Amino acid sequence: MEILDGKKISNQIKEEIAAEVAQMKERGEKVPHLAAVIVGNDGASMTYVNSKVRSCEKVGFESTLIRLPSTTSELELLKKIDQLNQDDDIDGFIVQLPLPEQIDTQKVIMAIDPDKDVDGFHPTNFGKMALDMSTFIPATPFGILELLERYNVETKGKHTVVIGRSHIVGRPMSILMGRKGWPGNSTVTLTHSHTKNITQIISQADIVISALGVPHFLKAEMVKDDAVVIDVGITRVPDESREKGYYLAGDVDFENVSKKASFITPVPGGVGPMTIAMLLKNTLLAREQHRG
Ligand code: GUN
Repeated sequence: MEILDGKKISNQIKEEIAAEVAQMKERGEKVPHLAAVIVGNDGASMTYVNSKVRSCEKVGFESTLIRLPSTTSELELLKKIDQLNQDDDIDGFIVQLPLPEQIDTQKVIMAIDPDKDVDGFHPTNFGKMALDMSTFIPATPFGILELLERYNVETKGKHTVVIGRSHIVGRPMSILMGRKGWPGNSTVTLTHSHTKNITQIISQADIVISALGVPHFLKAEMVKDDAVVIDVGITRVPDESREKGYYLAGDVDFENVSKKASFITPVPGGVGPMTIAMLLKNTLLAREQHRG
């Protein structure tokens, strides 16, 4: 069994990006600038966004964090997005999800200039991804592809089972694993809350990608010997004995599944750090495209 070490690989990617930024600076060019908008003060979302901003600093990007109150109206957020669309200094930006219920998420995503949509959530970019065109690939699925590639995991002809059909992870992942090329060329089953016989389907998977958000859902008896197991779940489970009052749990019963898997991602330190590294990669790409 080999651990797909997202922390290590994400650090390598950040070093590669930092080296490119250093060259940009040497040539006297503008460095990439990422803005992140967060509405409200959800603890997990704040942690993610702060981590994204800190990573920008680490690789030499400029970053701007825009914090809006949880009472922000849809119109106010749309105005902020328009400002960011118009601001030539900003190469790319993200609006952290989920948004408070008074705001229509689809409207917000539609308002983002596709050329600055480094999350790859805009229908233009999502459509390009599905059509094998060059675009911003959503950071979490992009990070999983990168992990599979850097560990030389074979995906061609394999049966990949994706658990969860979210727009951020499951849906794009199911498209990407079935695309031509590598990592890809796999036969994909996208499972969700209405899937019948889900355990039977999972037991046939060569590659399982779980993006469900149910701690320890995936048990050893559910996976095939030598399966590749990717755990996207990251749930805060309350635990007063911990300093933070919670611990982070993946979808996978790591202790037992790891004994059967050929490759497996840990939580934390697997997919999570890769997401941030790939967001930085998309922002670098956005800068290069804006430069023409
Ligand atoms: N919420 C959870 N994951 C993500 C992500 O990758 N991007 C944004 N904008 N919000 C998220």
